[in-house]
Amino acid sequence: PSGPEATPAERVPTGVHNAVDYERLAPRHLEPGRLAYIAGGCGWDQTVAANRAAFEHWAVLPRLLRDVRRGHVRLHLAGQPLEHPFLLAPVAHQRLAHPDAEIATARAAEATGTCLVASTLSSAPLEAIAQAAGSGPRWFQLYLQPERAHTLDLLSRAEAAGFSAIVLTLDASIQLASRSALAAGFVLPPECTAANLVEYAPSAPAPLGPGDSRIFQGAMRHAPTWDDLQWLLAATRLPVWIKGVLHPEDARQLQAAGAAGLIVSNHGGRSLDGAPASLAMLPAVRTAVGADYPLLLDGGVRSGLDAFKALALGADAVLIGRLQMYALAAAGALGVAHMLQLLVEELQACMAQAGCATLADIGAEALVPALPFT
Ligand code: FNR
Repeated sequence: PSGPEATPAERVPTGVHNAVDYERLAPRHLEPGRLAYIAGGCGWDQTVAANRAAFEHWAVLPRLLRDVRRGHVRLHLAGQPLEHPFLLAPVAHQRLAHPDAEIATARAAEATGTCLVASTLSSAPLEAIAQAAGSGPRWFQLYLQPERAHTLDLLSRAEAAGFSAIVLTLDASIQLASRSALAAGFVLPPECTAANLVEYAPSAPAPLGPGDSRIFQGAMRHAPTWDDLQWLLAATRLPVWIKGVLHPEDARQLQAAGAAGLIVSNHGGRSLDGAPASLAMLPAVRTAVGADYPLLLDGGVRSGLDAFKALALGADAVLIGRLQMYALAAAGALGVAHMLQLLVEELQACMAQAGCATLADIGAEALVPALPFT
């Protein structure tokens, strides 16, 4: 049955046995242009491919006879208790996937004890997302606005709505289009407005003078600098995480500047095509910041097994980007909750086989190269 009499489990799309099945089935639920925009990276999708390939490089070594009967996947992240190490990454324009957009995602987050990171570019206003998230943990992803007054306004709205941390994304000051989205003729449909920003009249772009470059004096004119970071850290009482870190030296400097934690990420391959896989940079960033500093990873995570590998290589938790849009498109809030539940179960199964009762037991010794003899 699929009508109102169906139980929630009966409304889960058929053929979904693993979280990644939502990706496999996405072409059924998203028209080609939207799918190309969501799935694509930038340029030729080299970094999208690298994010996936990096996980395939590692295999998990099973362990025998270990007692994992007290096992669980709970953790504390910078003092905040979480049910499991999957967070919902900030993903803009969720109305592309479902009319309920971030409201559905937030409901799913609360139902599964998942920390939600709401994008500055959400289709629903941040206050409505916070309300839908109920008592669940929620962070707000910030893009610094050209006008500091607008950034301050976003910050105070996020604080008032009960967001408990700010995630400042620094790797997307310019984003080149995805070639597959261009080829599919994708343009953002009119219903996908950035609801949080409608109040702020867009600042008029300054005319380009002779000798100006479109990139440096154009798009990068408002790109944040270290001074802006210091300003932001002083402007909010909330902890500030930095998203988009790949270079170990940046990581060290951001830690010293007072970031609450870092997200090793290449924006799902949507910022610099040719950037390394985030998983490939994770061990060096972990070494740079030390064992105890909060560190997250996103990019290419499609299974509990992938999350296990990221935790083994130094992440405390992972964020889920595209899978969230695919599950949202397939079955709204129920799909996102189901996808998260599948990820948690997949991680638990992997931990049990690897003899790890808790997340703290997952270390680099659990991994071997997938093809050690080639
Ligand atoms: C994103 N991402 C993103 N990041 C961010 O900080 N703010 C944003 O508004 C968005 N918007 C956005 C839209 C879409 C359609 C995608 C696919 C991604 C990046 C996102 O947070 C995350 O870094 C990646 O999606 C992680 O990679 P996977 O899980 O998609 O492979």
